[in-house]
Amino acid sequence: MGTPHNAAEKGQIAKTVLMPGDPLRAKYIADTYLENVVCFNTVRNMLGYTGTYKGKKISVMGGGMGMPSIGIYSYELYHFYDVDQIIRIGSAGGLQDDVDVMDIVIGMGACTNSNYAEQYEIPGTFAPIPDYGLLEKAVNLAREKGANVKVGNILSSDVFYHDREDFNDRWRRMGVLAIEMEAAALYMNAARAGKKALCILTVSDHLYKEASLGARERETGFHQMMEIALEL
Ligand code: HPA
Repeated sequence: MGTPHNAAEKGQIAKTVLMPGDPLRAKYIADTYLENVVCFNTVRNMLGYTGTYKGKKISVMGGGMGMPSIGIYSYELYHFYDVDQIIRIGSAGGLQDDVDVMDIVIGMGACTNSNYAEQYEIPGTFAPIPDYGLLEKAVNLAREKGANVKVGNILSSDVFYHDREDFNDRWRRMGVLAIEMEAAALYMNAARAGKKALCILTVSDHLYKEASLGARERETGFHQMMEIALEL
């Protein structure tokens, strides 16, 4: 069986999938956190693995960069592999003064400048949101771990190198916490499929602050995010 983008057989993928953008990060997560790991996909090097975490079956697969990419992989997981929940774990650029590099940002809503929602022919604007149960649980786990966690709107931008100099300013003045490039498509695919999604981010850089981050700090932020995602 399989799809044009995923070689897995049905049943090889767990009900919960963690989805970093980078496939090598998926490999790293499988190697570091999971036991009994089996690789289920190498098509286009979009590596996917299933293993166990504290005895529970879980999968981790790269989603690539941007909404078209995560749109394909998450659609196939929800519709062709009976996946129930996808948790994106990624990085983002901070927009607000009270967001710092290394903070964890959880996307309570995902704004976008993408045309992805056009396919649904909604007579208005759809607000892409995560599953509330996953959101609540993630926030509680983050607090228990003493993480610096901010919960609010994020922006899934189609453009990384935007031509307009005031592009970020306009999102910043609407209170959007951070910019990434995938969550809105994931949230829309989940909504349309009647499934669950959540996007957890570590702030890797800041668009309004001089922020430099040591390798070790980066790792700490990443591990906190990972533990939250795995325990969901
Ligand atoms: N913009 C978009 N995506 C990102 C950024 C950014 O500044 N930082 C990390 N992912």
